[in-house]
Amino acid sequence: MGDNTTGSGEFSFIQLADPQFGLFARFSGQTNEQIAAFQARGLNIKPAPATTGFTEETRLFEKVIDTANTLRPAFVVVCGDIVNQWDDDAQSEEALRIGALLDDDINLHWVAGNHDVGADEGHTTPTDESLARYRSKFGPDNYAFQHGDASFIVINSAVLQCPDETPAELERLMVFLEAELRAARTRNSDHIILFTHHPLFLEDPDEDKPGEAHLTIPIERRRPVLELLGEYRVDAVFAGHWHRNNYASGGDIEMIASGSVGYPFGDDPSGYRVVQVTRTGLKHDWYAIDEMPDGSKTP
Ligand SMILES: [Fe+2]
Repeated sequence: MGDNTTGSGEFSFIQLADPQFGLFARFSGQTNEQIAAFQARGLNIKPAPATTGFTEETRLFEKVIDTANTLRPAFVVVCGDIVNQWDDDAQSEEALRIGALLDDDINLHWVAGNHDVGADEGHTTPTDESLARYRSKFGPDNYAFQHGDASFIVINSAVLQCPDETPAELERLMVFLEAELRAARTRNSDHIILFTHHPLFLEDPDEDKPGEAHLTIPIERRRPVLELLGEYRVDAVFAGHWHRNNYASGGDIEMIASGSVGYPFGDDPSGYRVVQVTRTGLKHDWYAIDEMPDGSKTP
């Protein structure tokens, strides 16, 4: 992998998801019955003695930031669920502390996840208070940036998922998304890439499974977004939220959900994704937390 300059128009970035400080403790000390109930919901929770804090999340996030400092991508993006509990200052301060260890010439982009802004018990419903808190710590939740000849757009998919308490935020998000897509096309971007926390869909852009509504964006709000992404020829959407890798496509749009930096829910270990951007396309690969792209192992 090269350095983070753009003379050739080619560069790489690292996509992360779900460091989710506090989740190992949340799933520790569970009874066999509780573990069975989680597993019935597709969450592969492992038996573990009760713990508090976030020692394991710290180890994993520090390791991946260290790897980024070695690989020198153009930027690192963290696709949401930075913390497990939106109003726990210790969790967000630790994420920010480790994020600041990224070398100064590698940009760090935060993306809001449901746990970062979901103020209800199920961590699904953003409120004015939870959004304000997020923005005061991590910056804007809807924003755009460019690198080389590629345009990147970040949106707060938790608002898209559940706008019950913040309907005006949803309106602003859709206006923002269309404006940025139009601007990216006007610039003749080689690529337009969207970062969200929730994958827009699981397998099929038209799927509508009520039992799985929390996993994606409900179809009535997914359709208008996909229409915009198609109209402006977006290349790919990179997301997280499932704590496992999943690859799908809708039309010409790649829909990539990446496994977690933190607690894994499936067979994929904690890890990171390296995305290589060339003039003509995107190439991306997932690596376990202790693996480097050249096949070597980190200590
Ligand atoms: Fe999530």
